[in-house]
Amino acid sequence: MHESFLKEKATLVEIGKFVFPSYSPEIEEELVSSGITRAYSFGGTTLGRYRVLGKGKTGVVVLTEDGLALKIRRTDSPKESLELEARLQMRAEKSAPRVVKFGRNFILMEYVRGRHLDYVESRDVMVDLLMRAWYLERVNLEHRELVHPWKNVIVTESRTYILDYDSVSVKERAFNVNKILNAFGLHELARAYKKGEIELDEVLKRI
Ligand SMILES: Nc1ncnc2c1ncn2[C@@H]1O[C@H](COP(=O)(O)OP(=O)(O)O)[C@@H](O)[C@H]1O
Ligand SMILES: [Mg+2]
Repeated sequence: MHESFLKEKATLVEIGKFVFPSYSPEIEEELVSSGITRAYSFGGTTLGRYRVLGKGKTGVVVLTEDGLALKIRRTDSPKESLELEARLQMRAEKSAPRVVKFGRNFILMEYVRGRHLDYVESRDVMVDLLMRAWYLERVNLEHRELVHPWKNVIVTESRTYILDYDSVSVKERAFNVNKILNAFGLHELARAYKKGEIELDEVLKRI
């Protein structure tokens, strides 16, 4: 993806400038030796003099020169490594942005161009998202942050993507569908699903 709007409007910046909140030569070295040298100052969030796609507790996410999304581990992150998160994201496969490459300090993945989830969504978006949440259950992943899905889901023209596998754990019986339902105020359906009284197909019929 080399979109022309980027070439005209966004500046390319040396990757080390996005190491945050304090500079770390180790992180820059790992990125450069993995072939990641520059990213666009682009996105809805400000990071000092630059723009980024997002910033959270554990990472800063930037759009690379190659049109991929790169999550860089924050130097003040409580986690020592992003490797487990990357592996869980790969296991989440159909629900997550595709992982291209990862290391201790980064996850390089598919850039999803879309918007965050709104408090009111169409039935189509709800159905797609509930199916993505259910798929995570099928591969035994529970995504704790889905209780607040607003910043952890991106919606595009064609589908939804569940982001941020930092708070994900492997569970024999994982629950995500009820979290999405609760977030949208569908508490009765959430309760019935969690108790095993109804399955996903019945949830989808009732929304
Ligand atoms: N693959 C991606 N494509 C586009 N934007 C992304 C992508 N991954 C993350 N972002 C943006 O960056 C923000 C922070 O990412 P996230 O993984 O939640 O980081 P953290 O673990 O630090 O909270 C997201 O809310 C989203 O806006
Ligand atoms: Mg996050």
